[in-house]
Amino acid sequence: MCGLMGYAGPSPAAPILLEGLARLEYRGYDSAGLAVLEGDRLRVEKLAGRVSELAARVRGLAWPGRLGIAHTRWATHGEVTEQNAHPHLDCHERIAVITNGIVENWRELRAELEAGGHRFRSETDTEVIAHLAEALAPSLGVAGAVREAAARLRGAYAFLLVHATAPDRLFVARRSAPLVIGVADGAAIAASDVPALLPHTREIVYLGDGESAELWPGGIRLTDAAGRPVARDPVHVPWSAAEAEKGGYAHFMLKEIHEQPRAVADTLVGRLDLSAGRPRLEELPLSEPRISAARRVLLVACGTAWHASLYGAALLEELARVPAAAVLASELRYGHPVLGPDTAVVAVSQSGETADTLAAVRLAREAGSPVLAVCNVMGSQLTRDADATLYTRAGLEVGVASTKAYTTQLAALALIAVEWGVRRGTLPPAEAAAAVEGLAAAPGALAEALRLDGPAADLARQYRFAYNFLYLGRRHNWPTAAEGALKLKEISYIHAEAYPGGEMKHGPIAMIEPTFPTVAVAVEGSVREKMLSNVSEIRARKGPVILLATRGDRDAAAAADHVLELPRVPERFSPLSAVVPLQLFAYHVAVERACDPDRPRNLAKSVTVE
Ligand code: M6R
Repeated sequence: MCGLMGYAGPSPAAPILLEGLARLEYRGYDSAGLAVLEGDRLRVEKLAGRVSELAARVRGLAWPGRLGIAHTRWATHGEVTEQNAHPHLDCHERIAVITNGIVENWRELRAELEAGGHRFRSETDTEVIAHLAEALAPSLGVAGAVREAAARLRGAYAFLLVHATAPDRLFVARRSAPLVIGVADGAAIAASDVPALLPHTREIVYLGDGESAELWPGGIRLTDAAGRPVARDPVHVPWSAAEAEKGGYAHFMLKEIHEQPRAVADTLVGRLDLSAGRPRLEELPLSEPRISAARRVLLVACGTAWHASLYGAALLEELARVPAAAVLASELRYGHPVLGPDTAVVAVSQSGETADTLAAVRLAREAGSPVLAVCNVMGSQLTRDADATLYTRAGLEVGVASTKAYTTQLAALALIAVEWGVRRGTLPPAEAAAAVEGLAAAPGALAEALRLDGPAADLARQYRFAYNFLYLGRRHNWPTAAEGALKLKEISYIHAEAYPGGEMKHGPIAMIEPTFPTVAVAVEGSVREKMLSNVSEIRARKGPVILLATRGDRDAAAAADHVLELPRVPERFSPLSAVVPLQLFAYHVAVERACDPDRPRNLAKSVTVE
């Protein structure tokens, strides 16, 4: 959940490292630091604060060193202080190290190293790596020490290390946490995510699990845990450096909300055969017999991706008549799930690096379940662990609060459900053709839903001081309610609870009173009337209601205090556009409350710790 950046090249490292760090700040932003080698002199600057503050401090220093590492932190061990900020050094201040992830056995390693005379300065787990490397390098050399240190660590981590005795070398290692490498223009660069590499190259080498690498200006050498050389071709990433910029929007989140029509169109392009009236999913191995023969589907994911999975499960049951359920990855992995060759697992993840999702997938594979990934990041760990991947093609998502990743996951899961329904013969041709048309119209409906930006901003001004919100939806739009509530709480810090409408009378209705607003989704379709009944019950108790309804639905408009009108779309695809005003509402509430929607407190974009 931290951001790592390392550079070895022909130019002064500090400005390049700081620029890369700014592109990785969505991964964590408690503290920032960097270390640069000038010959055998190690220079370090760090602070508890943002990358911009670090940049301001370093700007005046004019360090000429051409090799270094930099870090932006999401604290796991030890408070947010300068002392705990990375890089961490060995006793003699010749080694600097930065990590992402958690070293689980740091206490025992620290005790052992302290007993051997090493002096620690921080409360972090990371510092053990610097001292371990210090202890091991005299006998193993730096590369050997890095490998051996990595072998002695337990947990999920990636680290970058520099050593004053190897002034033109950058050392990296990883286990379960992400690390990418690029070589361009006489430089070698390592980072914990692709955006930091984009100004330099789009040819990305993914470091494998348990591997380490040595980088020098213009070159890299990958080795496995035993020190054997590893050959790996780079993957071409179709993102541009401009995608990592705000492009005139006040925040990445707002930009990404507005990118959704384009993003969903990209998810669908080439995957709908309108003349045949069915999806065209050549790359999707539903032809992979183990997947199509499954008698049951488990969708595993976390957070927003789990909400998308709730929708995917409902649609798979509806269209493909296959028993399907969405399970939180963190619950699946610690439970006793019934897995095996008959149960296909669909793992949904924007980043493809979420620790719990990866662990659930490992469990599924060990049990013999075929695994299909629905993922946005090419070459990410999930896509390498799965039997097959359907890419969502959302493009780079920087905002910590997922928006376009969600709607593209909905579109991808809808494609799978329709395709699976066709293949299993449960979806009659006419219905399949209608579904394909409905999906093809989704980007247009999303664009129309974006017109609710103004009304959502007005409502945000009106309700910005509320302490609690209830979100209600049913059937396809129960996930919409859940996602709307998550968006509000994660960026505005207002408590928001989501319930399927039918559950309201079983408890949540007790909370309703004039200061407790409800957001309800009652678009045209099979559950509209039931939702309107829920709304009447809330208003009878003087609870204010913001209602999402289909344009022109006068009864719905009369039923609520405020109505946000959505375009008319087939019920089963309504979640794609219905979530848009909820994203916009959450965004504007956050801005009204002076919260930074792109850097919500305590959060980070990718949860690579368990
Ligand atoms: O990268 P993933 O899709 O696996 O991430 C899963 C969740 O961590 C993520 O969706 C999280 O809930 C977001 N902050 C939601 O906005």
